[in-house]
Amino acid sequence: MLKVAIWNLKGGTGKSSTAQNLGAELVAAKFRTVLIDLDGQRTLSYSFGMEKSSPNVLDWLERRGQPLLTGMDGLYLVPGDIGMFQISSEEDVLGQALARLKGFDVCLMDCPPSLGAPTLQAIWNADRLLMPTLMEPASLKGLAEAVELIKDERQGLPVDILRTRYKPRLRISRDAADQLIEGVKRSHYTLLKTAIPENVAIAEAIARQMPVSEHLAGSLGAAAYRDLAQEVASRWKLSQS
Ligand SMILES: Nc1ncnc2c1ncn2[C@@H]1O[C@H](COP(=O)(O)OP(=O)(O)OP(=O)(O)O)[C@@H](O)[C@H]1O
Ligand SMILES: [Mg+2]
Repeated sequence: MLKVAIWNLKGGTGKSSTAQNLGAELVAAKFRTVLIDLDGQRTLSYSFGMEKSSPNVLDWLERRGQPLLTGMDGLYLVPGDIGMFQISSEEDVLGQALARLKGFDVCLMDCPPSLGAPTLQAIWNADRLLMPTLMEPASLKGLAEAVELIKDERQGLPVDILRTRYKPRLRISRDAADQLIEGVKRSHYTLLKTAIPENVAIAEAIARQMPVSEHLAGSLGAAAYRDLAQEVASRWKLSQS
């Protein structure tokens, strides 16, 4: 099972939307996928109508219960809990719980926009880091800082940067993307080819508590997440076991 942490220190960059919609598209492509909501805000759980479901992540970390089936066939979720910030930053509780998970090809861990214990646990255990990033000058500055922090925690962790809420018609967005392309050349990080456009269907899908592919299959947002799933399945060498 490939374990992917979805994280950026900056808030509102589309981390939870990416966990929701990439997860749905990976399942559609027949990869057995489990999502873990590590954020006390529980946006990911809400986006599947499972904000108050149990067992939640705190139970699961304490060996009580298995991931729950979402409304989408084949897609599983460990729902979040508001008390998540209290977990240990010393004992590797997430690693122990992940080792007990069987029968999945890929696990996407939705992290909060901070570097507290839940994120640290995810980064210690991840095979890869996926960083959704807005194409704005301030976001790029935050990205550089976040990347430095990660280096201290996990030297050599592969990082894929995903442009989210992308508005190619805006000069500032295009300039930021160009700057990012140059910056990435000097690093060992990868900029994914697929960019997720700013698309209201993605925001509506969260409110309607379903993936964008179910809310509006013909939308630009749904198409972009389908492309992203194809790109990462190949880049991450995912295999159906
Ligand atoms: N591509 C998009 N187009 C339009 N709206 C989007 C897009 N992606 C996300 N949003 C909206 O932006 C807001 C933040 O998205 P999301 O919750 O996925 O970000 P996040 O990085 O998980 O936030 P946080 O840091 O608070 O966990 C939500 O209201 C969501 O509906
Ligand atoms: Mg989130």
